[in-house]
Amino acid sequence: MDYSIESAPLEKLQSDCIIVGVYQDQQLSASATSLNSSSQGLIAKIVSRGDISGKNGETVLINAVSGIASDRILLVGLGENKPLSGKDYKKALQAAANSLKKPYIKSVVSALSETPVENRDWSWKARQVVEAFHDVAYQFTTCKSDKTTDSMLEKISIAAPETQAAAAQTGLAQGRAIAEGVALTKLLADLPGNICTPSYIAEQALELGKKHSSLAVSILEEAEMEALGMGALLSVSRGSRQPAKLITINYQGGAKDSKPIVLIGKGLTFDAGGISLKPAPGMDEMKYDMCGGASVLGTLQAAAQLQLPLNIIGLVPSSENLPDGDANKPGDILTSMSGLTIEVLNTDAEGRLLLCDTLTYAERFDPEVVIDLATLTGACLVALGRVPSGLLGNDDALCNDLLAAGDVANDTLWRLPLWEEYQEQLKSNFADMGNVGGKDAGTITAACFLARFAEKFRWAHLDIAGTAWRTGQNKGATGRPVPLLVQYLLNRAQG
Ligand code: BES
Ligand code: MN
Ligand code: ZN
Repeated sequence: MDYSIESAPLEKLQSDCIIVGVYQDQQLSASATSLNSSSQGLIAKIVSRGDISGKNGETVLINAVSGIASDRILLVGLGENKPLSGKDYKKALQAAANSLKKPYIKSVVSALSETPVENRDWSWKARQVVEAFHDVAYQFTTCKSDKTTDSMLEKISIAAPETQAAAAQTGLAQGRAIAEGVALTKLLADLPGNICTPSYIAEQALELGKKHSSLAVSILEEAEMEALGMGALLSVSRGSRQPAKLITINYQGGAKDSKPIVLIGKGLTFDAGGISLKPAPGMDEMKYDMCGGASVLGTLQAAAQLQLPLNIIGLVPSSENLPDGDANKPGDILTSMSGLTIEVLNTDAEGRLLLCDTLTYAERFDPEVVIDLATLTGACLVALGRVPSGLLGNDDALCNDLLAAGDVANDTLWRLPLWEEYQEQLKSNFADMGNVGGKDAGTITAACFLARFAEKFRWAHLDIAGTAWRTGQNKGATGRPVPLLVQYLLNRAQG
């Protein structure tokens, strides 16, 4: 995809379609007003005829317009004539992008960044255009014979006045890095479990390291994990024929002595539940159990593209969870790398078994903060649905930073309590802890389990079980929480 900022008068810009906003009270945006005069009042006529009410997300495509250099105009409803919320702005952009999924639309000019949005600057508004269009243009065709996609979009120009061109340019660069990070994450996630195995993710990480000289990638094999004492992680991969991998992606953009931000992503390339087998309906979606890991790759790619002045370490423990003859059995007791013992009461609570050893491993990087991302609990879907990701952590400042980043990125979080009282549910009669805490508060008890391995640093856990992919007709990965993480990193880089 080709992106640019354009400051020439709108009527002179050549494209397949130029996008402008109209409000619910029939008020035209500044750009719509100017195109209206170049086109002898065409837009005002269409609005007054009632072809578009201006409700947020409504669109009307006007074909064969004379008086301007572009071939078409897309009118987009912006809603009430007042500064939009960030969410409504994004909604309008998505509607525009969705309605332009046409084979004859290869280039667009968006004049929507001029829309006043509460507490957001030009850079943010330009960035959202790139993110929305890139997101909508994504289609998974790797495994289809016919590779043609609905969207043929090749070029997006963002109209910006001279005075805002520099800010828009910054937004464009950020938007592009985020959008490409999201696309990498979605692609890895949408790949089926028979292609995207732990070895495959490891290879993709190595590829990423080849593409970006600032990313150093290394892979720990099972024998090395064995030597480190990662008994919890390895117990999961014993149930599968695919060997586990522990991927490290090291990005050194900051001062040598500045402590790294460690991102850990759960990388279960398929989770059948193991001996505590999952029910058949919807089990295909457990190929998405590596979305946390894929987000780590997407986020580090974005960090490298943006050359962020930070040190970041990405860790992706990757395995399958299958019911082999050598798999974990309920009642088995494992010794984790930390030395703590774990009674496996449900082999389907495998994510925490990979994450606990990876958290212990993270200690060696002397981290500034550790953030893990995991499709960890079905209970998170019950509690929060598919709107925010769950957030739990042992440090209020870190949690608040992440909540704020989520708001700006339109990739929201909701914090749940990580209180001592819940720890009781993990009591085991036979080991230091059980790996499950019963049916109550499943998302919290999963985080309570992880917290025991995260005592040595500031840590936050994102449960992305409800947000990493969409189910149903529109099934597909979302690339979340890459936008939120990149925003967090951008904020860290600034302050
Ligand atoms: N990967 C699943 C969590 C999951 C389930 C994410 C459904 C998204 C949709 C995880 O490994 C798992 O199986 N968790 C169990 C934990 C339980 C056994 C305590 C769950 O949520 O049922
Ligand atoms: Mn599971
Ligand atoms: Zn899982």
